[in-house]
Amino acid sequence: VEQVARVVLALEAPDVVEEVMHFLDRSGSARVVATAQDDRQLAAAIRQLEPDAVVAQPSLVNPAEVRGPSLLALDTRESVASLRAAIEAGAHGFYLWPADRDALAGATAATVLSGGSHDRRARVVAVHGARGGVGTTFVATHLAAAVVRRDLDCVVLDADPLYGDVAAALGAPTQEVHTVTDLLPLVDELSDEHLAEALWTHPSGMRLLLPPAPEQAAAVRAEDLRSLTAAAATACDVVILHLPRALDPLGRAAVAEADRVIEVLSLDVLSFRATTRALEALLPIGAGDRIGFVVNRSMRSEITPADVHRVFGVDPLAQVPFDRGVARAQDHGRLMPSRGRLARAFDRLAAEVMRPVGTGSDGSAPVGAPTAAAAGP
Ligand SMILES: Nc1ncnc2c1ncn2[C@@H]1O[C@H](COP(=O)(O)OP(=O)(O)O)[C@@H](O)[C@H]1O
Ligand SMILES: [Mg+2]
Repeated sequence: VEQVARVVLALEAPDVVEEVMHFLDRSGSARVVATAQDDRQLAAAIRQLEPDAVVAQPSLVNPAEVRGPSLLALDTRESVASLRAAIEAGAHGFYLWPADRDALAGATAATVLSGGSHDRRARVVAVHGARGGVGTTFVATHLAAAVVRRDLDCVVLDADPLYGDVAAALGAPTQEVHTVTDLLPLVDELSDEHLAEALWTHPSGMRLLLPPAPEQAAAVRAEDLRSLTAAAATACDVVILHLPRALDPLGRAAVAEADRVIEVLSLDVLSFRATTRALEALLPIGAGDRIGFVVNRSMRSEITPADVHRVFGVDPLAQVPFDRGVARAQDHGRLMPSRGRLARAFDRLAAEVMRPVGTGSDGSAPVGAPTAAAAGP
């Protein structure tokens, strides 16, 4: 079992956040799983991510909210007010940045060594596209790549055993490797080792459970997907579920398991219409406050990203531009480059999906009944 302390970082100055994050990540014994800029974001991150440690500027900590994880107070200047706030909040230690950074790394590492067993609970993100061809597979695979770029462990599960094309889009081998079929007899007692052995590792570092042979696809049941998701969620930081277009029992199970549901859409009437229909199917199963939108293949068109807000009540989490290189890359089982416009859009999306639900800058507000239900833009 990996002994890496999962840390939520709450500091005011963005440049210090950046420095501390890189320093802790490089230390190898801690990983920043979320950042927060105020006490509300911090409280939400703690509730949802159950970190081992909170490294925070004392003025951002509401003592009532930090229960469970160890609190390590960090500030760039020592002041009486800051120390008092640290003590009030029950901080284990108070460190000055950058002078005490080695002590901070040691204290952070210790939170997991002394913490005993602890089920890692990954952020589970479901990616769904209501209209065929909007780029569900493209978004799922490139979001996974962006998650890995943030130094987070990512496992991708394809909830479409028959037509799911994640493996092909990632250039996974088609022979002599484990597939989901090997795990089906074990799903009720799935250990981390079983799962780890069955996963295929992409050159980027993301791991993928390969799909069954077509004649075995029907053997994968919703309960199996739930068990696999739960097992994956204890073994990594982010689980990405690639959903079938039909919200069939497997698709619904995936939505039920997800912390965030990403609806991929393109700027055309039929995509808006299909998305509206998907929302009407998803809202009754309680997914409303977990849904975010991604505009893919974005280009000049009569319909604009602002129409996403107009129709669905929230801004898109990200807009991914149209790029003529995508089809060719996908056909060759390759990802698009990890730098450039596309990568930046996915970096933003990865940051958005890691943000605690309910604290988003825009797209994480609850989605009500679609305002223009069946009509589209
Ligand atoms: N942002 C984009 N720019 C250009 N082409 C794209 C983009 N996203 C997806 N495509 C292409 O559109 C087609 C459908 O994408 P895909 O991810 O397979 O969609 P889905 O899984 O929803 O059916 C593919 O040929 C893909 O390469
Ligand atoms: Mg697809």
